[in-house]
Amino acid sequence: MKILILGSGAREYSIALALKEVDSNIEFYFVPGNGATAKMGTNLNMKDPKVISAYAKASEIDLCIVGSENFLADGVVDLFKENNISIFGPTKAAAMLEASKSYMKSFLKKYKIKTAKFLNTSDFEKAKKFILNLTPPIVVKADGLCAGKGVVIAQSHDEALDVTQKMLSGESFGDAGKIVVIEEYLNGFELSVFALCDGDNFILLPAAQDHKRLLDGDKGPNTGGMGAYAPSSLASDNLFEQVKKDIIKPTLEGMKLEGSEFVGVLFIGLMVVNNKPYVLEYNVRFGDPECEVLMPLIENPLEMFLACANKNLSNVNVKIKNEYAVGVVCASKNYPYKDSPKALITVDSIPNNSHISYAGVSLENDQLYANGGRVLVCVGVGKNIKEAQQNAYKLCDNVHFEGKQYRKDIAFQVLK
Ligand code: AMP
Ligand code: GLY
Repeated sequence: MKILILGSGAREYSIALALKEVDSNIEFYFVPGNGATAKMGTNLNMKDPKVISAYAKASEIDLCIVGSENFLADGVVDLFKENNISIFGPTKAAAMLEASKSYMKSFLKKYKIKTAKFLNTSDFEKAKKFILNLTPPIVVKADGLCAGKGVVIAQSHDEALDVTQKMLSGESFGDAGKIVVIEEYLNGFELSVFALCDGDNFILLPAAQDHKRLLDGDKGPNTGGMGAYAPSSLASDNLFEQVKKDIIKPTLEGMKLEGSEFVGVLFIGLMVVNNKPYVLEYNVRFGDPECEVLMPLIENPLEMFLACANKNLSNVNVKIKNEYAVGVVCASKNYPYKDSPKALITVDSIPNNSHISYAGVSLENDQLYANGGRVLVCVGVGKNIKEAQQNAYKLCDNVHFEGKQYRKDIAFQVLK
């Protein structure tokens, strides 16, 4: 079987690794991939979705799995469908749930799904009126994709007004900020929930928690994510039932009514306030680093991806192992501020129940080098969170590259 994976992160690496475990005969292709995926299969340097889908057709790819949102917003799924190639991911229209925050908020309102009180606007005076009626902190979001940087939690009315003005004028994020979403601040805990969807049916994967800040104790600047663990004991059965009934079901039904049924993985960023789930955001792909801790927990990932892509989820029993996983991101020296010098990676040994998922690495003379950004994720698996965490950190101690930095407290939320 030939599988094409779109993206270049540890997320895409972890998907390939999980699939390889269940079928060592799979031939992997990555667009663009990274230095470590080059060792698992063939990296292809393509960007244009038309070129990618023509390549997939010509080389008889059996399944394409889209890791990164950028390909989705470019409509790669629509092109694969035209060519009758199985693909795991939503169409361009369905990907709007992530690509436009104002579309997402209007959708939530229309289908009566719980979310923070908000206003979508491109008019500064309207924004000002709404802001002055809120009590700080006040959340200001740019409408478009801003690589995770388009959300500001303003601590005063003046700050909220200033940020809004800079977004609307195009100064902060260009066109992506020309519409803003102003939101009330929700005070609770965040949870990442993943629903695998085939358009009609869905199943929920274990809930995960990301660690967005750079430093221990949730201090320092926001990053792409410094670690994750799953399942989270913060997700009670009762909460899961509310998420299914009040969020996922109406979302999938709503998307169908909008004419853009959802296939792929719907990643819901929740804020849980007094045991009630509110939607902070939808993403239309796996979270990174959440994916790296979910993949090792799935017993039959190949069946799972195929069933979603081929609209056959009701006939497949996706089996989740009775285990826990913790992933610790090792980032380069200057992350997230600026580029870092290239550094050779050495690994002493891989202890039992742990593995590495590689992200920002290049391959030269059969050696892996850290290339900046998030470099790799040390994943530990165990029969409880503590054991999984210990296994992840044992592996971290065995991985070396100049400037390596990582958080020492991943999964602290459930190990207090
Ligand atoms: P988003 O990209 O919309 O998920 O926002 C990024 C981060 O900002 C979230 O993960 C939250 O930590 C925070 N955030 C967003 N919206 C709110 C809100 N209404 N209340 C509190 N925090 C928020
Ligand atoms: N871990 C958050 C994200 O992938 O957006």
